[in-house]
Amino acid sequence: MCGIVGYIGTQPASNILLEGLRKLEYRGYDSAGIATVLNNQIHCVRAKGKLHHLQEKLAGEENPAQIGIGHTRWATHGKPEEYNAHPHTDTHRRIAVVQNGIIENYRELRDELKVLGHEFRSDTDTETIPHLIAECLQGIRDQGSGIGDWDGIIQNPKSKIQNSSSPFLEAVRQAVNKLKGAFAIAVINADYPDELIVARQQAPLVLGFGQGEFYCASDTPALVPYTRAVLPLENGELARLTPLGVEVYSFEGQRLRKAPRTLNWNPVMVEKQGFKHFMLKEIYEQPGVVRECLETYLNHEWGVGSGDQELGIRESQENSDSRSTSRSTDNKGQSKIQNPKSKIQNSPIRLNLPADFYQDLQQIQIVACGTSWHAALVGKYLLEQLAGIPTQVQYASEFRYAPAPVTPHTLTIGVTQSGETADTLAALEMEIQRRSGLAKEYQPRLLGITNRPESTLGQLIPQIIDTRAGIEIGVAATKTFVAQLVAFYLLALDLAYQRQALSLDQFNKILDGLRQLPAEIEMILESQERYIEELAHDFAETQDFIFLGRGINFPIALEGALKLKEISYIHAEGYPAGEMKHGPIALLDAKVPVVTIAMPGTVFEKVLSNAQEARARDARLIGVTPMDEQEAEDTFDTLIPVPHVDEILSPLVTVIPMQLLAYHIAARRGLDVDQPRNLAKSVTVE
Ligand code: M6R
Repeated sequence: MCGIVGYIGTQPASNILLEGLRKLEYRGYDSAGIATVLNNQIHCVRAKGKLHHLQEKLAGEENPAQIGIGHTRWATHGKPEEYNAHPHTDTHRRIAVVQNGIIENYRELRDELKVLGHEFRSDTDTETIPHLIAECLQGIRDQGSGIGDWDGIIQNPKSKIQNSSSPFLEAVRQAVNKLKGAFAIAVINADYPDELIVARQQAPLVLGFGQGEFYCASDTPALVPYTRAVLPLENGELARLTPLGVEVYSFEGQRLRKAPRTLNWNPVMVEKQGFKHFMLKEIYEQPGVVRECLETYLNHEWGVGSGDQELGIRESQENSDSRSTSRSTDNKGQSKIQNPKSKIQNSPIRLNLPADFYQDLQQIQIVACGTSWHAALVGKYLLEQLAGIPTQVQYASEFRYAPAPVTPHTLTIGVTQSGETADTLAALEMEIQRRSGLAKEYQPRLLGITNRPESTLGQLIPQIIDTRAGIEIGVAATKTFVAQLVAFYLLALDLAYQRQALSLDQFNKILDGLRQLPAEIEMILESQERYIEELAHDFAETQDFIFLGRGINFPIALEGALKLKEISYIHAEGYPAGEMKHGPIALLDAKVPVVTIAMPGTVFEKVLSNAQEARARDARLIGVTPMDEQEAEDTFDTLIPVPHVDEILSPLVTVIPMQLLAYHIAARRGLDVDQPRNLAKSVTVE
């Protein structure tokens, strides 16, 4: 999606803007541009295609301007051509604007502005904004001189910014009140060379604070090289950045008191550190991410012999009959009653969720998109099979228009790596709205799962599981997916503990298995990466792939197919292995490789039989399966071995070869792995 940067301070702005845009490249874009105020003129340079085209145009230019805005555009309205690239200016080229999001009423505004004499030069919705601001500014000036004519779209404003000496700020405020849709904007004005005005409505925008210099960006990686003091704007807020400081206002014109917070990131997190691509670096970060997540949320004092283990765990029928209180046995064999609060305190998982979060919980619904939706499917399996809670998973984009009926005592979980996905945020907002005002048991109970707690999701939902994966730059989600899975394991175990749904043995077995996972993922990376790189050569000409899995590994088949599609542009389908015979089997022949996940457990034999059905159609069978499984060895033409792990934990190992296979096939084809065509890292439009 589009990226915004802005700078005002004491240094030449162009380089800072260009560097900022480079840090936002990962979001996906097809043109770029910057505008500065130089000698009381707007100086705007734009280019189609990648940033180096813009850089070539800027090369050799001496531009000492200390204020500017920049943009990478992901086309929505109008082709990806230079004349549609941002920044856009008003008729007299005094005002320049960059925008993310979509202005829904741009057609009406454009028609009215044309009637008022404004000349448009692009096909974009964005261009409406500088013209509208120019019109508002003219209205303010005319009113000041007593000749104001506030007809048509520019109506006499009911409120205005109090005690502000900036007509430019007031003009932007009036303009944003006329806009419908989602937008984040940054605006400069040749007549006000010391002011950078920004506004946010349903599209992310973060301010950065330096020493006598201030920044704005649509995403924090653009700010991290310069400052870690940031302030995410909220919906309906605008800000005026000057060399002296930052003022934040509501769209109604009220001054708001806000303080920046400090990001615990460092600039190295947004560098490749010797890896050829961010995606490969992020695949290699996965053992560390799992370790960090477990380290953060496992209660390390909870151990064998401590007595804590007994609390809340199902032991016998007689002492597992209560939900509001739990019976357990202490070290001396004495039966004791625990209240829910102490159960939470003594849980082996520390998610820091409040006690009422668990109370009378009957159902869970999860909304997400893309890879996060796949994580949610694994989550559903865990929440149902470990904690025994009926769980629905919906695409956020579908949920918005066909939500499940409102049920009581329901937890709604939003999963998103960016924390900015428009569909997921809108689905959650809708859920909050439709439940507010209902009886207590229907009140919204919400949880967010993300690696970006500072995101809009973090502002919308008070309870967040920060997956601790940090920022992910590669458009194809890898480490954030694995981290979302770990979050679901922890949540499901925590709920299983509170509800006494597992035996102590089962519980300990899963916890031990989880602790071993980082080393097991490391082992796969060490032993399989080279081999998978070699294997990728075989698929240079392949046009279709099928991925099969069952049970808890069905979502991993979907994820394997999505990874391959996204970065290699090869058509791929993920199916539950048992469904293949109901249709997709018709696609199979010797040219279609079938990647099958076969992990010992409840569906192992079934999956192997399903794979045999593919073999009978001459398909090349690639098995992701543990070493030394004779039956699997006999079934598959090619093996990608993974460690023996408990079936319930297996997605955390089976997904690794899927990621490596997609990566190496795409890299082998010479494709832009980190920024695949048409895709964006955070999808901030509906
Ligand atoms: O930021 P989110 O997790 O909400 O993003 C959802 C999808 O857009 C995302 O998972 C997309 O499918 C990725 N490119 C997957 O690799």
